[in-house]
Amino acid sequence: KKPAGAPDKALARKVTKVGVVGAGLMASQLALLFARRLEVPVVLTDLDQARLDKGVGYVHTEVDKLLAKGRVSADQAGRIKALVTGSLSKDAFADADFVIEAVFEDLDVKRKVLAEVEAVVSDECLLATNTSSLSITAMASGLRRPERVVGFHFFNPVAVMPLLEIVRGDATDDATLATAFSVAKTLKKSSVLVKDAPAFVVNRLLTRFMGEVIASVDEGTPLEVADHALNGLGLPMTPFTLLQLVGPAVALHVAETMHTAFPDRFGVSANLAALVSAGKPGVYGADLQIDPEARAFFKGGSS
Ligand code: 3HC
Repeated sequence: KKPAGAPDKALARKVTKVGVVGAGLMASQLALLFARRLEVPVVLTDLDQARLDKGVGYVHTEVDKLLAKGRVSADQAGRIKALVTGSLSKDAFADADFVIEAVFEDLDVKRKVLAEVEAVVSDECLLATNTSSLSITAMASGLRRPERVVGFHFFNPVAVMPLLEIVRGDATDDATLATAFSVAKTLKKSSVLVKDAPAFVVNRLLTRFMGEVIASVDEGTPLEVADHALNGLGLPMTPFTLLQLVGPAVALHVAETMHTAFPDRFGVSANLAALVSAGKPGVYGADLQIDPEARAFFKGGSS
């Protein structure tokens, strides 16, 4: 069934090579998904070789896990690994027709990155952004061809979560949007067209939900109680585990964006901000036990 708002699929362009800007956890997950489902070369770029090696290494490890589970054949595993490469230069995007950025959530950084990409790609190359909350229109403004920019917002873990928010900016044209929907289908994602509004739809809801759980801890509810109180509703993860998965810095960034847009409805937890400033990776340790040091950032009473 054609997703609501999707243009005629005959307008979609073919994608034969993908570029991913960034080699962090989100970018590496995207590289794996594109190589596995589109079966085209995927090149990751980042600022240093260590990050690239880590990104490509992640793809290899995940492919090995898929192979061990019988989800891909040995042939497919070899092909996917060979399709994903890293490059320190965006010149590697010269023959790409679809480039997605997954760099730090900062409008100026993203605008700069897209301008650098636009300087090397062909006129037909689509520019997608995986931003969690920033304006697609603002990101595209200032580019030579803003009509080729589209929001392509995935959810963590990318391999498992079926949803993809596709965001049309003011300038996005039908061919770009049709290509985005066509790629989403090949990626086997369930796509929805959402408005270019702060945090789109899902993060708007999620931020409110997470914000209220964190606020209840800030107001004195023991963290353990607030985190597990909702288990009975059948959520797949507790709110603080989800915070860990998303990353406290990303969650804070979205909360700040929402607070700026709707100050009456969205707060920003000073304790979450302090946790992020202190460089703590999250509330839970690798063993999924609450880290006492991180816990100390939240006032919540003891359980
Ligand atoms: N990477 C790859 N695969 C993963 C994974 C990961 N990080 N985590 C889990 N999986 C896979 C497992 O390998 C397993 O696959 P299998 O069926 O082939 O064995 C499958 O997912 C199910 O995993 P588990 O049985 O271990 O655990 P669950 O049943 O609890 O499922 C979950 C895990 C799907 C992550 C589930 O807990 C969940 O849906 N959590 C909520 C996630 C969520 O809400 N994400 C959205 C966050 S918001 C966001 O990303 C937006 C951003 O802009 C902030």
